[in-house]
Amino acid sequence: MKNPFCPYTLPLDAPFCNRITELKELEAFALSGSNVVLYSPRRYGKTSLVLRVQRNLAEKHGAITVFADFYGVTSIDDIAARMAKAVFAVTHRNEPLWKIALRTIRSFRVVMKPDAESGVSLSVEPASSGKYGLPLLEETMESLGEFIDQSESLVNIVLDEFQEIVELKESLQVEAAMRTRIQHQKASYFFVGSRRRILLGMFNERQRPFFQSAFNYELPALPEEELAGFVAALFDSNGKKCPREMALKLVRTVSCHPQYVQKLAYLVFEAAEKVVDETTIRDCLMRMLKMEEPFFEMMIQGLSLQQKLILRTVAIEPTTQPMAANYIAKYRLGSAGGVRHSLIQLEDLDLVEKEKTSERWRVVDPIFALYLRLKDVGMLP
Ligand SMILES: Nc1ncnc2c1ncn2[C@@H]1O[C@H](COP(=O)(O)OP(=O)(O)OP(=O)(O)O)[C@@H](O)[C@H]1O
Ligand SMILES: [Mg+2]
Repeated sequence: MKNPFCPYTLPLDAPFCNRITELKELEAFALSGSNVVLYSPRRYGKTSLVLRVQRNLAEKHGAITVFADFYGVTSIDDIAARMAKAVFAVTHRNEPLWKIALRTIRSFRVVMKPDAESGVSLSVEPASSGKYGLPLLEETMESLGEFIDQSESLVNIVLDEFQEIVELKESLQVEAAMRTRIQHQKASYFFVGSRRRILLGMFNERQRPFFQSAFNYELPALPEEELAGFVAALFDSNGKKCPREMALKLVRTVSCHPQYVQKLAYLVFEAAEKVVDETTIRDCLMRMLKMEEPFFEMMIQGLSLQQKLILRTVAIEPTTQPMAANYIAKYRLGSAGGVRHSLIQLEDLDLVEKEKTSERWRVVDPIFALYLRLKDVGMLP
């Protein structure tokens, strides 16, 4: 019996739960040439979703879909190179478009090498103009504009983990250089990311170059009922049974977090004889916590003592008043100013957030929060 659950990057042909409205709305934004900021906590399915939107745009509308990932960008040259490479990658199997790309993207030259897995691997090197830094990025963005004009096609460009450019010391100039060129291009851009305070700041703070240049689009967790139906159906079609109430229990255990649902369901599918029961779900949750432990501990290790203290406290007792005297005294948090400072830093790292409806500060990742709570009372497996 093949395990149908996939906790890692979802291949385009893997079963995909719901997101029907989002697929439709994002496609419409692309068709109208609008820009969108797509944001959510980590692992909610942003990348999987935009890749499906791009596939639909290409298949249904003949769109050119450029996908660049800014995760871990190290320099302005690196940003320019990733943009250029993304254009070459999407055009190299289409002779007419490939010619246009080679003609217009002059700031980089393509290097192709045979590759055992994909047939050919593609990378880029700066062309011999000798430009680097901002002038190189400006030239690349301008040549991208020329490419878009000459291709005479619908173009959608996804910049995944876009907020990572703020890690560069010249980030404001980078933002300005990109924004100036993007606003004249006939393409729709999706700016995608999970460090929400930083990403949203780029688009919603008045003094920033990208101010109000895109629709803010929040990706919520998956709806409980649909997610439970999705899980139950995958058990069913792969030879095991997960009764509806057990599927609901499973998705609620991980607060409908898309990736944890896949992880927990994967373990439960392996462990269940034929029919899923409550004990199996509980045991697998503990196993999952154990498996996540090195990752969680790594995150904790990277924090200062004060940040660790605030994180642990917010996990144990989410609160609307983290700076209140009684809360600070109860958990010995130090000064109110120190608490505020650490909360902002933890929010920038996307570790804590102020929940919108309840206005309570809490740990963003529900399983990390559970881990911290169990660790606090010495109940980890
Ligand atoms: N609609 C969905 N149906 C089923 N599984 C999903 C869905 N969306 C997300 N997932 C699960 O969540 C995992 C994370 O998805 P993805 O990498 O697209 O999220 P992300 O928001 O881009 O994450 P990150 O913030 O780390 O970039 C996927 O590998 C998959 O297991
Ligand atoms: Mg992603």
